[in-house]
Amino acid sequence: MIETNDPRLMGRAVERIAFDETAIRDRARELGAEITAAYPDGELLVLGLLKGSFVFLADLVRQIQRPLHVDFLVASSYGEATVSSGNVRLVYDPETKLEGKHILLVEDIVDSGRTLQKLMELLRVRGPRSLEICALLHKRIATELHHEVRFVGFDAPSEFLVGYGLDHAEDFRHLPYVASLR
Ligand code: IMP
Ligand code: MG
Repeated sequence: MIETNDPRLMGRAVERIAFDETAIRDRARELGAEITAAYPDGELLVLGLLKGSFVFLADLVRQIQRPLHVDFLVASSYGEATVSSGNVRLVYDPETKLEGKHILLVEDIVDSGRTLQKLMELLRVRGPRSLEICALLHKRIATELHHEVRFVGFDAPSEFLVGYGLDHAEDFRHLPYVASLR
């Protein structure tokens, strides 16, 4: 358990800090450079999946040294308790046209990959010039995602992680680090 008096934690114990502020800042800078190099020309639209990606996206786009636009997606999954994987719909759909643009979908964490797989299917039919994923964390257990995650911040341990956008029942999104929950 981490020794911390962090008032953000509301007295609840987090097990340990998995990725601290320095590690995340350094990795965001590297990812920004990778993304800058990967898109030499064409319009780039960075699409953040809300809510989890909001902190990461804000840091990431400031490390990308080329013109870009930012928009967001809100997805809602239905029937969590069922085996169905098709129940993802867009609650907020970006105003921006995707056709002919490089689309970079930004996600907080890839777990089963179900949400991203469905989103990729929904977005691909809109005729983007390219469609790639950037995830801060990847648990490497995704069996549902049939698309490589092109840009990955960190391989994540198989623990429940919170902070830097990730929540547990809406708590902890504002932690400046990623911690595992006890
Ligand atoms: P997937 O569709 O199973 O890949 O689930 C991805 C979504 O589940 C992420 O966008 C998160 O919102 C949530 N999620 C998965 N694992 C964690 C975790 O360890 N902490 C917090 N949220 C998680
Ligand atoms: Mg979540």
